[in-house]
Amino acid sequence: MKIKTITQTFAADVYQGLKSNPKSLMSKYFYDDEGSRIFQKIMRMPEYYPTDCEYEIFDTKADAILKKIVPYNEPFDLIELGAGDGMKTKLLLTHFLEQKADVNYMPVDISEEAMNLLTNDFKSAMPDLNITPFVGDFYDALSKIQHVDKRKKVYMFLGSTIGNFPHHKAVSFFRKLNKYMSSGDMFLVGFDLKKSPEIVLPAYDDPHGHTAAFNLNLLTRMNRELGADFNLGKFFHYAAYDPITGSAKSYLISKESQKVYFEEFGEPVLFAKWEPIFMEISQKYDMQMIKRFAGDTNFTIMDNFYDSRNYFVNSLWEAK
Ligand code: AVJ
Repeated sequence: MKIKTITQTFAADVYQGLKSNPKSLMSKYFYDDEGSRIFQKIMRMPEYYPTDCEYEIFDTKADAILKKIVPYNEPFDLIELGAGDGMKTKLLLTHFLEQKADVNYMPVDISEEAMNLLTNDFKSAMPDLNITPFVGDFYDALSKIQHVDKRKKVYMFLGSTIGNFPHHKAVSFFRKLNKYMSSGDMFLVGFDLKKSPEIVLPAYDDPHGHTAAFNLNLLTRMNRELGADFNLGKFFHYAAYDPITGSAKSYLISKESQKVYFEEFGEPVLFAKWEPIFMEISQKYDMQMIKRFAGDTNFTIMDNFYDSRNYFVNSLWEAK
């Protein structure tokens, strides 16, 4: 039943996206099992700098972050939205426990398998850690967590996932989160910063072909789950970075005029020669944009934690 609902949403989103002009697909659908494996390869390639940056920040600034969160070592709940494999958080929590922080870690993720793996892994690496995993959607988890106890709550949204949201969706996400928070609760959010296009572009247009495979995998997913007949050889990946707006965008381009059939849909989807499907935005920010986000969504910026190259920032906000 649950699977069916998810497939129907996938089908409806795909139908809407491919019937629009310009055509688009939603990058949240990249992460099926194969997509998640390809994303792991992306994170390990030298051109993909964001992972290393956040890792460096947590390795060198964890104590400073903890001091800002709980100056008097107050007990707190640390809620991570979209925890995934939690690799970077493991490092942060190791440092927090060394400082004798009284922390209860609450990872939230839609994938039950990911949550089980993370919980077992964290329990064996940090036997003293209190951990309460939540499987489900962010907003379900937020409404439950809100009332779970009276401790201070610190929310985290790491890895510049916010960059995959169009601007208005990022603003509504921050507003919505803020509504679940009490005054004084905090939010640690990762932003990838504007930098040389020569650094940004290869992270999304790599010589190994991992990013191309990551995008093309969504065509394979539609073939499997929606009975489509995409020929992967008839599309190629194209990425572009606009240094003015700071947006890195990925597209799949149709090499020829073609029709794609879907068992799920009545009529085929037509592609003109060179017609793009807009696949993903990975927005790069500057501090002015980040200040505006916080100011517009009822938060105060408490501090900003940068890596040594100033490529990335973990911004710490307090709910007003
Ligand atoms: C999941 C947001 C961290 O946009 O940098 C990586 C996803 N897409 N390469 C990003 C992604 C193509 C990634 N994040």
